Amino acid sequence: MKILAWLLSLLLCFTLCLGYNVSYDSRSLIINGQRKLLISAAIHYPRSVPAMWPGLVQTAKEGGVDVIETYVFWNGHEPSPGNYYFGGRYDLVKFAKIVEDAGMYLILRIGPFVAAEWYFGGVPVWLHYVPDTVFRTDNEPFKYHMQKFTTFIVNLMKQEKLFAPQGGPIILAQIENEYGYYEKDYGEGGKKYAQWSASMAVAQNIGVPWIMCQQFDAPESVINTCNSFYCDQFTPIFPNKPKIWTENWPGWFKTFGARNPHRPAEDIAFSVARFFQKGGSVQNYYMYHGGTNFGRTSGGPFITTSYDYEAPIDEYGLPRLPKWAHLKQLHLAIKLCEHALLNSEPTHVSLGPSEEADVFTNSSGACAAFISNTDDKNDKTVVFRNVSYHLPAWSVSILPDCKTVVFNTAKVASQTSVVEMASENKGLKGLKWEVFVEKAGIWGEADFVKTGFVDHINTTKFTTDYLWYTTSIFVDENEAFLKKGSSPVLLIESKGHALHAFVNDELQDSASGNGTHPPFTLKSPISLKAGKNEIALLSMTVGLQNAGSFYEWVGAGLTSVKIKGFNNGTIDLSAHNWTYKIGVQGEHLGLYKKDGSSNVTWVSTPDPPKKQPLTWYKAIVDPPPGDEPIGLDMIDMGKGLAWLNGEEIGRYWPRKSPTHGCVQECNYRGKFDPDKCNTGCGEPTQRWYHVPRSWFKPSGNVLVIFEEKGGDPLKIEFSRRKISGACAHAAVDYPSVDLESWREENGTNKSISTINLKCPENTRISTVKFASFGNPTGSCGSYTKGDCHDPNSTSVVEKICLNQNKCAIELAEEKFSRGLCPSVTKKLAVEVVCG
Ligand SMILES: *[C@@H]1O[C@H](CO)[C@@H](O)[C@H](O)[C@H]1NC(C)=O
Ligand SMILES: *[C@@H]1O[C@H](CO)[C@@H](O)[C@H](O)[C@H]1NC(C)=O
Ligand SMILES: *[C@@H]1O[C@H](CO)[C@@H](O)[C@H](O)[C@H]1NC(C)=O
Ligand SMILES: *[C@@H]1O[C@H](CO)[C@@H](O)[C@H](O)[C@H]1NC(C)=O
Ligand SMILES: *[C@@H]1O[C@H](CO)[C@@H](O)[C@H](O)[C@H]1NC(C)=O
Ligand SMILES: *[C@@H]1O[C@H](CO)[C@@H](O)[C@H](O)[C@H]1NC(C)=O
Ligand SMILES: *[C@@H]1O[C@H](CO)[C@@H](O)[C@H](O)[C@H]1NC(C)=O
Ligand SMILES: *[C@@H]1O[C@H](CO)[C@@H](O)[C@H](O)[C@H]1NC(C)=O
Ligand SMILES: *[C@@H]1O[C@H](CO)[C@@H](O)[C@H](O)[C@H]1NC(C)=O
Ligand SMILES: *[C@@H]1O[C@H](CO)[C@@H](O)[C@H](O)[C@H]1NC(C)=O
Ligand SMILES: *[C@@H]1O[C@H](CO)[C@@H](O)[C@H](O)[C@H]1NC(C)=O
Repeated sequence: MKILAWLLSLLLCFTLCLGYNVSYDSRSLIINGQRKLLISAAIHYPRSVPAMWPGLVQTAKEGGVDVIETYVFWNGHEPSPGNYYFGGRYDLVKFAKIVEDAGMYLILRIGPFVAAEWYFGGVPVWLHYVPDTVFRTDNEPFKYHMQKFTTFIVNLMKQEKLFAPQGGPIILAQIENEYGYYEKDYGEGGKKYAQWSASMAVAQNIGVPWIMCQQFDAPESVINTCNSFYCDQFTPIFPNKPKIWTENWPGWFKTFGARNPHRPAEDIAFSVARFFQKGGSVQNYYMYHGGTNFGRTSGGPFITTSYDYEAPIDEYGLPRLPKWAHLKQLHLAIKLCEHALLNSEPTHVSLGPSEEADVFTNSSGACAAFISNTDDKNDKTVVFRNVSYHLPAWSVSILPDCKTVVFNTAKVASQTSVVEMASENKGLKGLKWEVFVEKAGIWGEADFVKTGFVDHINTTKFTTDYLWYTTSIFVDENEAFLKKGSSPVLLIESKGHALHAFVNDELQDSASGNGTHPPFTLKSPISLKAGKNEIALLSMTVGLQNAGSFYEWVGAGLTSVKIKGFNNGTIDLSAHNWTYKIGVQGEHLGLYKKDGSSNVTWVSTPDPPKKQPLTWYKAIVDPPPGDEPIGLDMIDMGKGLAWLNGEEIGRYWPRKSPTHGCVQECNYRGKFDPDKCNTGCGEPTQRWYHVPRSWFKPSGNVLVIFEEKGGDPLKIEFSRRKISGACAHAAVDYPSVDLESWREENGTNKSISTINLKCPENTRISTVKFASFGNPTGSCGSYTKGDCHDPNSTSVVEKICLNQNKCAIELAEEKFSRGLCPSVTKKLAVEVVCG
């Protein structure tokens, strides 16, 4: 009996205590002796809030994802040397356990340099000021702190039993990040550092493999991996390594003042299918949920507070359709082929100049095939195994039985959700506001006086975005401009990032650089009076540099200040004595915090000032009703920072993008680049700012805004992110396949093409806005009828869908008008309103 009990507990322990072994061969990772084909999704824990984590992870799982991937954000975890923080959004252990509880794996990219459009690439700013430190090279202080932090994280993960061999979810860990691009700029030190990083990591003995991405000389002790829009042509350095794609970018980040990039679902699916067709076995979406750069955590400089990334789950946590669903279908189709893919020698078959098949047949004859057309313009018809297949341009078809096309990357069957930021009619109007206006220039005691200019970042050390540069100038009453009423011109040059220029407490003008060119000049007429004039220049950072060779040395701030138009010509103030003050007063007093709010006398008013620079606004607000996610609409504000209940919403800046360079419709065909499919020309890059629901209390919420240059606070409002409608289109010749129940032995599901539409829970299809069975064109929101159109389209769709939460419309000729335009391959396009 005792022996039996002992044996049983040993058995139990074998599955629970021992965990699983992660190894690999040239084909794939091998987990507990089994080859694995893995779909991974990047979700960065500090870019959302703990209350969102379980939902995000679950939505990824429903989307066919097996692995969650995250960086570890060093500067969030070690705010000062040796002081560690793992609370709130930085609770890495909690995040890892949520992934584990969902039955998913975790890839931990420790870095600890991560880039990630995150300030300073994730490295603590204080480390730059440890004497003799140079980041990311063979430098003792840097290596010391990097090793110390890496070891700290590894030990924490071990202590929490989070590595796979301990029974935890972590199957891979990453050291460094995309160093290969810059290594040569660091000479011999770079080479040595890369090798040191690998051996330092391997010596941590974590029981799972280490990876290095974009590391072209990675040693054999680690797996080198690929980051790009396409990685089908990637081969690892060593033949015994599996082909791993750590960053497939399903969208792109945004910078304040730039357009809004989009990567079409068809192209992402194409890139993923091509990767698995060409022998890949782990693919990670960077990002799957991008989230929010709360507070001042964004990098760049100039990266927006939103890090939506046009990812499959949007910033607010909602699945982005059709992207999320199209990729889910893709994952199901790939998984139908998993066994054949991983357990056979592929055969490559050329089917034409840009058409090819890769066929995976195992020893018992099971067969799966990927057939692709990489022509970026022309659809092709190919013959594969005596069967003819139509392949749209730039697409891959997946045939889990080598006969049936269950998925084509260019055919999007999922609905497109129409998402809007619904304004709360009430807005924040009618609230009682409290206001505190700061004076321009030095408040309290000056920090220091210096002849000439200091570097902005070296001076603030990023404890704040703001640095005052102030001086004064004496104007003789005989100056001609005083008599003529003309204006002298202020000329400023700055390394970056942005500036507001005040003279005698009045805002004269503002200027800023941009994401591709942080330095800028300001040239502006100013008003000067006879006698002493106070010049106060508020210099600002908008995120710290996050990548590049020697990126930590890139500075910011003023380099030249001149005034043109004096009797004696142009006066150069650059070598004047400048008086400096770090930060703005309200920030220093903690006006956005509960305990700092009483540090000044606020002025209560129902009518807060407009266009008033350097102003703090405070209001008590109720949470918007319902449970939709919330965005703060800042379109009528200038630039500044916002907080709710002391939590940092982040920088806001409804800066407009250029008026040109956008597309009406995006052609998915052909190589993607981030400038290919831009929208939002002439509009603010970011109008709404995510305020997580979990930050609200039932009542008495304190909203605090610091406005730098002037706006209209009465126009601020909370908007609810709502799915207000849905669109879908499909052609009659593309039968829907139910991938969740598809089985090889049953082959094609001969069902006819079907359009499925679904509104959010508790809402119904209230209107059929557009329906055309025939040859409609356009995309969601802009569908138009073609020359072939069934006049009964709307009534047919209404009959099936109206007042339903969801509906399925079969594209059977008998449902529509029989014999309509016989020579046209008909399709149906539908747009409905949910209400
Ligand atoms: C893990 O798997 C590899 C390859 O199958 C094997 O060589 C190794 O001994 C295994 N390790 C453990 C601890 O089981
Ligand atoms: C071949 O693959 C099929 C499923 O695709 C599987 O059922 C079968 O066991 C495999 N045969 C071998 C020898 O691996
Ligand atoms: C294709 O057809 C030819 C002749 O009709 C036949 O000999 C051959 O076996 C077929 N191939 C396949 C893969 O079915
Ligand atoms: C030029 O004029 C300005 C303003 O009146 C005065 O402050 C400055 O000292 C003058 N500089 C020279 C070199 O005369
Ligand atoms: C950024 O600024 C530079 C220099 O002023 C300019 O040439 C460039 O067009 C700007 N880029 C964008 C996207 O506005
Ligand atoms: C910041 O300060 C350091 C140390 O004094 C100096 O080496 C560096 O050049 C400064 N950076 C800039 C951008 O001025
Ligand atoms: C600048 O300040 C220094 C002392 O810090 C002083 O000696 C010098 O006279 C000042 N220069 C001017 C132009 O005010
Ligand atoms: C702000 O107020 C809090 C509490 O009222 C106080 O502890 C803190 O020192 C004040 N800060 C400043 C800078 O005065
Ligand atoms: C597949 O075929 C079965 C049986 O005819 C049918 O019940 C099912 O709805 C079909 N699935 C799809 C997605 O059309
Ligand atoms: C395949 O089809 C047959 C007959 O329609 C049905 O009995 C069987 O359950 C199906 N198998 C699968 C795995 O769907
Ligand atoms: C439209 O539907 C009506 C009744 O459902 C039918 O009588 C009519 O023939 C249809 N129109 C066309 C063009 O088929």
